[in-house]
Order: sequence, then C-alpha cells, then structure tokens
Amino acid sequence: MKNYKISIIKGDGIGPEVISATERIIEAVEEKFSLNFEKIFVEAGLEAYKKYGTNLPDFSLEKIKQSDCLLKGPTTSLEGEGTELGVPVKIRKYFDLYANLRPLKNFPHIKSIFNGVDILIVRENTEGMYSGLEYKLSEEVNVGLRVATKTGAQRIMKVAFENARERKKKITLGHKSNVLKMTDGLYKDVFESVSKSFPDVEAREEHIDALAMKLVMEPQNYDVIVLENLYGDIISDLVAGLVGGLGIAPSANIGENFAMFEPIHGSAPDIAGKNIANPIASILSFSMCLNWIGEKDASRTVENAVINLLKKGEKLTVDLGGNSSTQEVSESIAKEIASISV
Ligand code: IPM
Ligand code: MG
Repeated sequence: MKNYKISIIKGDGIGPEVISATERIIEAVEEKFSLNFEKIFVEAGLEAYKKYGTNLPDFSLEKIKQSDCLLKGPTTSLEGEGTELGVPVKIRKYFDLYANLRPLKNFPHIKSIFNGVDILIVRENTEGMYSGLEYKLSEEVNVGLRVATKTGAQRIMKVAFENARERKKKITLGHKSNVLKMTDGLYKDVFESVSKSFPDVEAREEHIDALAMKLVMEPQNYDVIVLENLYGDIISDLVAGLVGGLGIAPSANIGENFAMFEPIHGSAPDIAGKNIANPIASILSFSMCLNWIGEKDASRTVENAVINLLKKGEKLTVDLGGNSSTQEVSESIAKEIASISV
C-alpha cells in the first residue's frame, strides 16, 4: 500500500463542507486503489485570523511542510489597506508554486453559453501585481510594483508549452506589451524564444483586451492560454463563466517540489452551513492532486466519476439545477468511483 501525506485547509464559508465532501472521495480512492492518505489538518483563513491575528500562522506552515501536497478549501481574504495578503497568495509565494493550471471545459448537463470549449489557463502565480509591493508615496499617491523576471517568465512559458504539447498543440500568450513595454515585453520576448524549442506547438499572441473579446466570441479556438498573474486571475473567471461557472472549476498550483490544489471559487458565506454547496470543483482539484503525485489511474477515475454523475443528471446541487445536498453529491461520486473498472 502506498502512503501519502496530504495537508488539508478546510477554509472558510462553504470550505468545510466542500472539503468534507472531498474527504469522502479520498476514502473512496483509498479503497479502490489501495492507497493511504494521512491527513494533516491545518488552520488557515479568516477563522485562524480571528484566533491568532494572522490568516496563516507559522505552525500551520510547518505542518504543510511535512506533507507531500496540500488540498485547500476556499478562504476569505480581507480587503483594503493594512490587511494581510490572502492565504493562497501567501502559500503560492512561500512554496514558490509558480504555475497555476486551470483546466476549464464543458461538462455534460452543465448549462453554458458555448459547447466544445476545452481550455487550459496557465497562470503565472508568483509575480506581476501580486508581489505585495504597494506603497504610499504621499497623501495623494499610492503605487504598486508590477514585477516581471526573466526566470519567472522562462519557467512559466516552459510549463505552458509542455502542457500544450500534451494537448492540442496550440498556445496563446495574452499580453499588453504595446503599453507595458518592459514587463509584458519581457514575457513576450521569452514566449517567442521558448516557442523555438517547441516547433510542434502552434504559438500565437494576442493583446489581452482583444483576447478577452475573442474568448467570449469564439472560445473553441483556444487550447492553452498562458498569462501573467493578474490577467490569469481575471481571464480564468471569464472562461469559467463560458463553461458554466466556478462550481466546476478546479486548479493546481505547482512548484518544483510541492503543490497546492484548490477550487477556483470563493468561500460563498451566503450559502455556508446549508449543505447545498457544489463540491465538484474541490473534488476535481483532488483529481489534479492525484495526477501530480503520479496516481494517474486514480486521477482519471475521479474525473470520470464526476462526468458519469453529471451525465446521469440526477444528483446535482442547486447551482446546477438540482436539489441534492453537498453530501449526497459526494456520496454518489464515491459510488461511481467504486463502480468504474480500471
Ligand atoms: C484565485 C483567487 C485569489 C487570487 C484570491 C482569493 C486572492 O481569486 O485563486 O483566482 O486572486 O489569486
Ligand atoms: Mg481569482
């Protein structure tokens, strides 16, 4: 039996519910694939902030470091001057999880504006406007520094091209180097030079504004889209909207030796505690985790179990037009996992 240590942040709002639904899936995978996940629960988020005065105490970081990978529920970030950076932003930086992979595609029975969309957003995850370098110059002027490094650009472009090579071999860089000549200009130069090592991948460039328009008109034309941090944040929500919303949108934050997996959606405090939140984004994030640790069969099985559930269209949460509870959905996915032959 193979053992893994998985650290888990339950998060705020609907976090504990969607994560406990995902724990049910972890159990189903353990049983089917003879794996063992030692779970290390870690305090972080708004609740931790209220208790300890920080959303990510040092002892939480120490616990995460003892694990092979991190599953993270949504956490609430405070807004405005003087507040801490959000938990995911801190963790991405601390563990240098520079590649944020966000696969967004149509799923059966999920109402969406388009069909035939299958896009992987590769978002740079450690620099750009997320560097936390904001200053007050005077009573009148606040500035924020937008960081672009050559190493940062090279490593994200490499990940993006490698992913494109495994998919439909098409990649698009979104940038604004007509205005941001040094920062986006650097990303554009590096994109062009890395593309020379991937002659089999068709590389295109779009200005980010035009890309936003084309995505809402003809999203089927895109495969991998590589973006700096803030563009990636915005465009990934936009593409999620094209395929039916954030309830089904997972993500992987990957570095050289560690990775964090989290749903893209937020903590939705308005529906917290009602057992109606859709757990699929968290469950698909765990599927991405399985893939990253090398359990490819288990990863595919979890995704196929979700697809089977959606195809049947019987057990769906309210956001997908059903009336099943969070728990009922995960129970049904667990059953699907048990019944799939590998
Ligand atoms: C995301 C989220 C985070 C981000 C927030 C919660 C800080 O929107 O993962 O896309 O901006 O990166
Ligand atoms: Mg976001």
